[in-house]
Amino acid sequence: MPAIRAIDKLEGILASSENFLQRMHELGQEPLQQKGLRRLFPPSEAAEMVGRDRTTLARAEPEIGMELPARNPGNNRRVGYTLEQIQAFRRHFGTLPWRDPATDSPLVVACQNFKGGVGKSTTCVNLAHYLALRGYRVLVVDTDSQATTTSMFGYVPDAEIDEDSTILPYLSGYQTTLDYSVRKSYWPNIDLIPACLALYEAELAIVMHLAAQQDVEKRVQFFMELKYGLQTVADNYDVILLDSPPALGMISINVLMAADALLVPSAARMFDFSSTVQFFRMVHNYIGKIDPTKQYRWISVLTTLFDQRYESQKQFFEVMRTCFGDSAFQRVFFHSAEVINGAAQFVSPYEQPKPNRKVLEMMDNVFGEIEVALLKEWPSKRGLLSERGIA
Ligand SMILES: Nc1ncnc2c1ncn2[C@@H]1O[C@H](COP(=O)(O)OP(=O)(O)OP(=O)(O)O)[C@@H](O)[C@H]1O
Ligand SMILES: [Mg+2]
Repeated sequence: MPAIRAIDKLEGILASSENFLQRMHELGQEPLQQKGLRRLFPPSEAAEMVGRDRTTLARAEPEIGMELPARNPGNNRRVGYTLEQIQAFRRHFGTLPWRDPATDSPLVVACQNFKGGVGKSTTCVNLAHYLALRGYRVLVVDTDSQATTTSMFGYVPDAEIDEDSTILPYLSGYQTTLDYSVRKSYWPNIDLIPACLALYEAELAIVMHLAAQQDVEKRVQFFMELKYGLQTVADNYDVILLDSPPALGMISINVLMAADALLVPSAARMFDFSSTVQFFRMVHNYIGKIDPTKQYRWISVLTTLFDQRYESQKQFFEVMRTCFGDSAFQRVFFHSAEVINGAAQFVSPYEQPKPNRKVLEMMDNVFGEIEVALLKEWPSKRGLLSERGIA
């Protein structure tokens, strides 16, 4: 076979594959030509979400001042409410679960592990969806140039997001707050700071910038940039979720320093386990060098991609539980066809118009445990937790 010119060959590959990606995004957006949350919540489910009964909701409809969905002609019931309407009901009845700004701080949770493909982005997006359905105000920050999370929010990152819309201008010192980068998503209570491939170049740009700093103190400050940036927008949110790149680099260190809590997805497999141990080793080293006084509210491993058909995974899950002790969540994120099939169209199981209840139940269990870990950090929620029998 004669050798081929790399550039020509790559151009051919790129032309057809980029075209395919564009088409898949368009399919995910049809028929509205833009991605939207099309799931409706039947009255009984809405009632449970709001914390009032169905009749009370129906009576309050005129008061929330919003156009309501059509009724089913058969039984005259609402076909379903949108999440926006449910949020309006929650506001009306005072059942929004927001933190109390007087006592509770916004929490920055990093989904981080240097191992690739362990479900960081999937956990980040699905946890954001779970928290949003529960009524919290969530900011999702995509810090990974692969931009998986940005794609899940309906964007074709490299066509629709330019570097000026990412965290890059802030990290490069061209912006003084992150306000410019925050955009509304099609979820009423999730905002997004997107990523795109250009963020990869940021790694080098930051190193160059850093190398130019003579002063050690200033160099260390450089790793705190994202932390300070998030502080400029944090007041608007209850939870800020950071999706991280699968490698140690300048952005990952910034993520480590910005986080209040580390959520570490790891599959129950030998190589993933050893990578996770290595991740903790590196985190230990870098924090020791940059800021030995750094505190986390919690560090917790979440077992992901769990497939109980494999005996080895069950055994590894036990190993992880033993090794990580109370630094591991009890619940596991099961491997599910629903997650993979949904991802092919850039939708999560929570966004399916007719969701698979069993899968939602599994994810609600996992994320419910994480929600409790968050609530424990908010003094105003102590009463609520003790009502639920949680110390
Ligand atoms: N619970 C699950 N069930 C089935 N498939 C899953 C599950 N979680 C993640 N996946 C799939 O595994 C793959 C990797 O997941 P994801 O992109 O979330 O990992 P990641 O750690 O963010 O990867 P990267 O290191 O490249 O950023 C994706 O194809 C995703 O759809
Ligand atoms: Mg990812």
